[in-house]
Amino acid sequence: MTRDVVWQEFAIDKAFRAHAKGQRPCLLWFTGLSGSGKSTIASLLEQRLAAAGKHTYLLDGDNVRHGLCRDLDFTLEDRAENIRRIGEVGRLMVDAGLMTLTAFISPLRSERRIARELFTRDEFIEIFVDTPIDVCEQRDPKGLYGKARAGTIRDFTGIDSPYEQPESPELCLNTVRHSPGKCVEQILAYLILHGFVNRNAADIAER
Ligand code: ADX
Repeated sequence: MTRDVVWQEFAIDKAFRAHAKGQRPCLLWFTGLSGSGKSTIASLLEQRLAAAGKHTYLLDGDNVRHGLCRDLDFTLEDRAENIRRIGEVGRLMVDAGLMTLTAFISPLRSERRIARELFTRDEFIEIFVDTPIDVCEQRDPKGLYGKARAGTIRDFTGIDSPYEQPESPELCLNTVRHSPGKCVEQILAYLILHGFVNRNAADIAER
């Protein structure tokens, strides 16, 4: 399909845009079951980054499925296409110089690997929101587990559709032991260690 299309180079590139923003762009890829806390933690983290003067964007599964991915369902095939699109949109956002957060179940290792391959080694930070299914089901913030058990929703992740845990994510968050705020601290510590956030800026944002 792209046979007669040649990549065009432009003078203003990712490095220029990142420099203009005074930050290192990255893709913070949250993965985990529905109700695991991805959106909650990503939103809290984005607030901390914004308070530290960072330019961010948060792509969230439920919201993106109202627009860009409204034509997609929850078959494995459609989920793969969902994640492919998010990977590509995330890449554009990183190219624009943004610290980008994505909160999608992204259930299969293969599709997360394909997304990872769109980025440089340091840019892609996979964050496993490790919440056991019984805890997600107990929380059931949207009442979807109840519907899945009742059989009114089909192909529900963890019930009758698979979730493959990441084997070596950059970060693993234990939401049973730690509060969302504590999980955000864990991510910020990683971002400080790897030079994405200045320790002073993160400290200031906390006060
Ligand atoms: S993904 O598998 O393609 O990555 P995505 O993150 O976009 O999923 O959407 C998941 C959200 O859609 C869930 O948080 C939940 O609110 C809703 N949802 C509706 N039906 C399903 C289903 N069958 N399986 C999982 N989530 C569902």
